[in-house]
Amino acid sequence: MHTILITGGAGFIGSHLTRLFVTKYPAYKIVNLDALTYAGNLENLTDIENAANYTFVKGNITDLDMLSALFSEHKFTGVLHCAAESHVDRSITDPLAFVTTNVMGTATLLQVAKDHWKDNMDGKVFYHISTDEVYGSLGDTGFFTEETAYDPRSPYSASKASSDHFVRAFYHTYKLPIKISNCSNNYGPYHFPEKLIPLCIHNIINNKPLPIYGKGENVRDWLFVEDHARAIDVIFHKGKIGETYNIGGHNEWTNIALVKELCKQMNEKLGRGIGESEKLITYVIDRAGHDLRYAIDASKLKNELGWVPSLQFEEGISKTIDWYLNNNKWLSDVTSGAYKEYYNSLYGG
Ligand code: NAD
Ligand code: TYD
Repeated sequence: MHTILITGGAGFIGSHLTRLFVTKYPAYKIVNLDALTYAGNLENLTDIENAANYTFVKGNITDLDMLSALFSEHKFTGVLHCAAESHVDRSITDPLAFVTTNVMGTATLLQVAKDHWKDNMDGKVFYHISTDEVYGSLGDTGFFTEETAYDPRSPYSASKASSDHFVRAFYHTYKLPIKISNCSNNYGPYHFPEKLIPLCIHNIINNKPLPIYGKGENVRDWLFVEDHARAIDVIFHKGKIGETYNIGGHNEWTNIALVKELCKQMNEKLGRGIGESEKLITYVIDRAGHDLRYAIDASKLKNELGWVPSLQFEEGISKTIDWYLNNNKWLSDVTSGAYKEYYNSLYGG
């Protein structure tokens, strides 16, 4: 039995995680705390919003008093901490927003959990969801393991690395029962169309240019978002306190090969001729400090907890494209900003 605080549950990964926990564990109580920034969208959760074991609270993880009141009210036994500023390009434009949410917000949440759990840490879990980007950039070979030294290179990854360090510091200093996972790039339904895959799907549908940074040779290791949520479920319940687990798909693609695969599949699904969507590919100026390659060695998670990805990429990407094609309203609400009105219609103002 758990009463779990999920932060950032209205975002991309958080919404899949919230759905999984609400439906798989009807005896748990799940509280989703989300500030509803541009990336938070309650339309991601319409299918579970009336579930008996689910509550939504609008609030910011930097607000210590609000968090403390929430802990007093709900007596949480678990925290699944997803809330973050998550887009590298935005971190280049506005790094301090990333320090505020990812560093200060995480430290505030840790402080409140410590204060409320200090007399009895038994059975409690503070689970911090992080990224493989904390490890920096790989060359053409090799993989990130849990032992790889941190070497963050963007304001986003530096803020996530800092938050990981705070989480470990609270474990070593105060014995806060923490777990951390560092995952590779996710894709799937409800992904905000500023990230590569949903952006390209949206632009292919609308015959708009597909911006490829630099030469398109950067490599990412893509994992279907529901597989990430399943891994978090396994680690939350079976992982060891104080440990870190890497999560990845063993599924590396250069950006250009990935976008061509998207074009190929969408030509078929949209009844376009061979090579038609590919004409939208446009090379643009490279991202500053663009990390060359990320690739995860997830063997610890496989060997210790038995988790492996369930979907092959071609199948996962096909499912993802179908979801976007069938959820035109979600996509147009997000791109027009209309999704922000959904909160008002539910909760008023
Ligand atoms: P997202 O940007 O889609 O969602 C973030 C959510 O956090 C949004 O709902 C937003 O409203 C909320 N939020 C932002 N600031 C907040 C604040 N101050 N207080 C409360 N809520 C706030 O992000 P995502 O892609 O779902 O990523 C979730 C987590 O997973 C992040 O910690 C990210 O670093 C990590 N991660 C993401 C990926 C990926 O590929 N997307 C991969 C590995 C790890
Ligand atoms: P992104 O989805 O932003 O994830 P991350 O930077 O966290 O890995 O970008 C994935 C890759 O795609 C990354 O190498 C940058 C590149 N990219 C483009 O080439 N064009 C785009 O418009 C975007 C958003 C990303």
